[in-house]
Amino acid sequence: MSEIRLDGQVAVVTGAGRGLGREHALLLGARGAAVVVNDLGGALDGAGGEASPAEQVVAQIRAAGGTATVDTNDVSTPESASRIVATATETYGRLDILVNNAGILRDRSMAKLTPEEIGSVLDVHLGGTIWTSRAAWPVMTGQGYGRIINTTSAAGLFGNFGQTGYAAAKAGIWGVTKTLAIEGARNGIQVNAIEPGARTRMTENLLGDLADRLDPSLVAPVVLWLAARECATTGEVYNVGGGRVARVVIAQTPGFFSREITAEALRDGWDALNDPGRAEVMTTFQQEMGVLVGLLADGDPSAVADA
Ligand code: NAI
Repeated sequence: MSEIRLDGQVAVVTGAGRGLGREHALLLGARGAAVVVNDLGGALDGAGGEASPAEQVVAQIRAAGGTATVDTNDVSTPESASRIVATATETYGRLDILVNNAGILRDRSMAKLTPEEIGSVLDVHLGGTIWTSRAAWPVMTGQGYGRIINTTSAAGLFGNFGQTGYAAAKAGIWGVTKTLAIEGARNGIQVNAIEPGARTRMTENLLGDLADRLDPSLVAPVVLWLAARECATTGEVYNVGGGRVARVVIAQTPGFFSREITAEALRDGWDALNDPGRAEVMTTFQQEMGVLVGLLADGDPSAVADA
């Protein structure tokens, strides 16, 4: 089996001083990429900062024979995110791979949450993903090549108690991923997201007996594969953890259709409309629109769910 190599390529991994980002950076570095190890080294809630987490990862990559440099800029503002990309271009002359991984947690139920908490979580996760991508975009477009791997979460895709801000940010990242995949296609830029599960300081109190089986190093191979030149996938989200990888899809039931739609007809057709048994995976909004356009053009007035 030939090894996937990234020799001559340059990668930025945000939040790479610890946890998942650290494993992504170590693996990309081990496969030949020059790695910008970005991490401002703050607490789990984003407070404070120190260079040592990023420095230690850089030292580890170099000790293994790789190439890496420290970057301690904050992902969450347009200006500082641009400086992260500048570290890559000024140090190594290009940027092939951007892994948006940096994150904080400030969980709070709706009754107690504050604008400041919501704002900082949105700024780091969603803002950080957008601003680093925006800074990388002209570089990757100029090269006609780029790979962006974003980090979403089950909380964003399915919701989770106490995580309004985090879920909003992570759901936003999913939308950003889909949109940048569309915009990047003409310039060889592929954009995907992972929805990870791993033992890190973010989850150490949540995983119970399974913690030992959820080493963060089990997520990094998916990032390497999505970053590889030979991977042609774009616009997808993968659930990754403990050695399992699965594609997450949006599906839609055939639904109900009647030009004389009434609440009563909906009531009577509700179970059929909601039955996922005949749901279809939807990958583009044109595909989704096409279903309605087809129904309107055919003029079939019958309730589709009953067909
Ligand atoms: P972690 O707390 O171990 O690592 C996150 C790193 O991001 C830290 O080293 C931190 O200093 C850095 N960081 C935070 N704010 C930053 C900023 N503004 N600029 C630059 N760096 C910053 O957490 P973990 O678990 O490794 O999380 C990585 C990503 O994976 C996050 O986006 C998280 O939301 C996501 N995730 C993790 C899951 C898990 O099971 N561990 C589950 C779902 C999503």
